[in-house]
Amino acid sequence: MFALRAGAVMVAAMVSTMAAQAGEVEVLHYWTSGGEAKAAKALQATLQAKGHSWKDFAVAGGGGDSATTVLKSRVVSGNAPAAAQIKGPSIQEWAQEGVLADISDVAAANNWDKLLPPVVANVMKYKGKYVAVPVNVHRVNWLWANPEAFKKAGAKVPTNWDEFFAAADKLKAAGIIPVAHGGQNWQDFTTFESVALGVGGADFYKKALVQLDQGSLKSDTMKKVLTTFKRIKGYTDKNAPGRDWNLATAMVIRGEAGMQLMGDWAKGEFIAAGKKPGTDFVCAAAPGTAKSFTFNIDSFALFKIKNEANVKAQKDLAAAILAPEFQEVFNLNKGSIPVRLGADMSKFDDCAKLSSKDFVDTAKSGSLVPSVAHGMAVSSAAEGAIKDAVSNFWNSDKQTVEDAMAKIASAAKTK
Ligand code: BGC
Repeated sequence: MFALRAGAVMVAAMVSTMAAQAGEVEVLHYWTSGGEAKAAKALQATLQAKGHSWKDFAVAGGGGDSATTVLKSRVVSGNAPAAAQIKGPSIQEWAQEGVLADISDVAAANNWDKLLPPVVANVMKYKGKYVAVPVNVHRVNWLWANPEAFKKAGAKVPTNWDEFFAAADKLKAAGIIPVAHGGQNWQDFTTFESVALGVGGADFYKKALVQLDQGSLKSDTMKKVLTTFKRIKGYTDKNAPGRDWNLATAMVIRGEAGMQLMGDWAKGEFIAAGKKPGTDFVCAAAPGTAKSFTFNIDSFALFKIKNEANVKAQKDLAAAILAPEFQEVFNLNKGSIPVRLGADMSKFDDCAKLSSKDFVDTAKSGSLVPSVAHGMAVSSAAEGAIKDAVSNFWNSDKQTVEDAMAKIASAAKTK
């Protein structure tokens, strides 16, 4: 009897300590499509398993432009969420504002310096202190194809841009929309940077789009890139303007469209729809880019918050994100690959295995390049200006390649 009572007291004490330590983490993200939402749920479950609660702050809008706008107003009004999906050079921009929390203790306790590639770790640090935690590695230079549509059209999945247009013509002749596209500036630019990589190669890509070298932005190669890019528009449908990326993916899933140029979050949509890679859909490097890799790393920046229990919860979330179990379940749903070095890829499909191999190989060969469309390469001001210039060219019936080149080169000077 006494032992029973003592046991009950102990349990009660444990529950109350857990309750005292249980915190809430408000997480701003833009993962609202089918595959994305499944991945976000995995993150939520991981946090809840640690006894904390998750306050969902989802702002729909592919590429995160709307989420960034909302985040800015929340931070300005002194009401930052505990964690927000922020990546690339923007992490530094936010850290400079003095609003991010130092989570170096979590990083040290969990050996982040050893388990992350140094190029990734550096982006997560501000003045040597970790202020963000990476979740995954997305590859942007992919082409997604519906094999049945290709079969019907008698077309072959292209490996270069000549083959791409040949396949597009055949799909068109078979009454299939050749290219599923969503006319939003980040999607236009996702296509544009794959063309720049495929037509110009990794060195051109780095000089023109990462170093923003004026000579490269006004070169003959750039002319060829812009001409190829604009030619793709003729193979999209009239409803493309404004369409969300996942709705474009759905067109390929249904076989209404033949292919889509999109990062591998599109794979998350195929998987969520119950489709199997290799049979129901095909992943191939965007034309001409098989030996290069445009990376896009999702990460969460942690904001300074006051409540002690919430800080504990925030740190538990950061630690959990890089744990092997979470890296696996999250990335299986998200379409990306684990960011942890040496992750076990046995449960992943062939698209992810190829991505993982190419990530390592291209890092060695120097053709691993940051995605400009997805905030990995240049300041947010320059990125926004270049994106607008590229989309204006895509949307205009009058602008010449020469005009576009001048506008993009001048946008690249935006500070
Ligand atoms: C993000 C992905 C997201 C995609 C579509 C990209 O910029 O990195 O996580 O799935 O946009 O919203």
